[in-house]
Amino acid sequence: MTLLAQLSLAVVLLAFLFPPLQQDSPPQASMQHLLQRLSQCDFLSSGAGLSFAVSTLVRLDTLFAVVGGGHMPIPGANNINGSGVLIACKRLNQLRISPDLGTVHVGPGNRWVDVYRYLAPYNRSAVGGRVGHVGVPGYLLGGGVSFFGNEYGWASANVASFTVSSPAVLANGSIVTATPTNEYSDLFWALRGGGNSFALVTDFGLRTVPSGKVYVGTTTFDASVSGTQFLDKVYEYGLRAADDPKAAVIPLVEFSSGSTTPSYSAYLFYNGENAAPEPLEPFLSLPQTSRTFSYRTMYDWSLETDTELLLLTGFRQRFWVLPVGLNRTALQIIHDTYIDSVRQFSSSGIYLTALAVMPVPRTFFTASQKAPGGGDPKASTPHKSPTSGSKKASATRGH
Ligand SMILES: *[C@@H]1O[C@H](CO)[C@@H](O)[C@H](O)[C@H]1NC(C)=O
Ligand SMILES: *[C@@H]1O[C@H](CO)[C@@H](O)[C@H](O)[C@H]1NC(C)=O
Ligand SMILES: *[C@@H]1O[C@H](CO)[C@@H](O)[C@H](O)[C@H]1NC(C)=O
Ligand SMILES: *[C@@H]1O[C@H](CO)[C@@H](O)[C@H](O)[C@H]1NC(C)=O
Repeated sequence: MTLLAQLSLAVVLLAFLFPPLQQDSPPQASMQHLLQRLSQCDFLSSGAGLSFAVSTLVRLDTLFAVVGGGHMPIPGANNINGSGVLIACKRLNQLRISPDLGTVHVGPGNRWVDVYRYLAPYNRSAVGGRVGHVGVPGYLLGGGVSFFGNEYGWASANVASFTVSSPAVLANGSIVTATPTNEYSDLFWALRGGGNSFALVTDFGLRTVPSGKVYVGTTTFDASVSGTQFLDKVYEYGLRAADDPKAAVIPLVEFSSGSTTPSYSAYLFYNGENAAPEPLEPFLSLPQTSRTFSYRTMYDWSLETDTELLLLTGFRQRFWVLPVGLNRTALQIIHDTYIDSVRQFSSSGIYLTALAVMPVPRTFFTASQKAPGGGDPKASTPHKSPTSGSKKASATRGH
């Protein structure tokens, strides 16, 4: 770490220990004192502290990174190398529902499991991560694909306000709230999918959805189900998906060390009390060996998946994303190429790989465009739908 970075780190700690009373006094003034405190590592616990830290780092021209929920498992994605300062939002973890239950205020230190746990007693949920393990801020600033997406659009389309500290917009370190109608409406628009470069969000005002419980779970298909059969069902789902936007799926092909053939499974979701909804019929009709699809809160579902995701702790992970239109031939090529690639991969270590085909129906975009607050800044083109995205993820144990 460079000397400048060390000095700046001390300033960040100051921001926590002594909230920003003296923004204009030179940081060097009490540097001796601060360096003595360097052994105490702590996390910012107020938006004002965050704002002070950021404006100071910008003034010192020091590189910094911010970690929100801390979910992304790619090396370096949640951190900065020795050339800068890492600001952790862990303690900016407020959760507060409005009296009419229509909005929940969420701090950037939360993961979706925290949001779902908080909302469950109110019989509410939010357009958030499909697994609870996912962090809130990176997901919302990047758009956010949700099980509720076909009905309500991108998760970011369901943000009613962002409270931010934005050196790009407000060099003086002020904290402002951007809404669709106030003087920061352009910032509001950009933050709905524009990524993490415009501002540091200290609070997200999210619309809640009146779905205390949903049908959600996994299903694992019998070994007799072939790749061809499975892809036929994925394609069939894609064709019908826009007919009932309460449904969502994540079809999965998995192929890991120790296996000679891939296995097929799916995450299934329906926003309603219906164990056999029409759009999910292609998957429910395939022979299955296990199924957890049941009526419960997103919090209960999070507990199920988070337990599984914890098994990946310590694995190095990589993701690749390939967007394609809904096309049966293309699905086959992607599937076959994936299988061939894994077959050629030889490693003495443990590896887990998965190909997740994520259908994004037309309703996903139309719902986003209808969201209160001015359309979808991602300029998606519903008329080109139905579309589907495909995503390949793999994890390898370090060796
Ligand atoms: C660390 O990150 C900075 C900024 O991205 C980059 O310029 C530098 O090359 C990186 N250094 C190493 C050793 O990766
Ligand atoms: C939530 O729903 C349950 C079951 O329908 C009901 O008993 C309970 O009163 C509801 N709670 C709130 C806060 O609305
Ligand atoms: C910071 O800048 C904004 C926008 O120009 C202004 O509204 C606000 O009053 C300023 N805050 C301070 C503390 O000067
Ligand atoms: C479907 O994908 C195949 C393979 O990439 C391509 O040759 C074909 O033109 C595509 N069909 C449509 C209708 O786009």
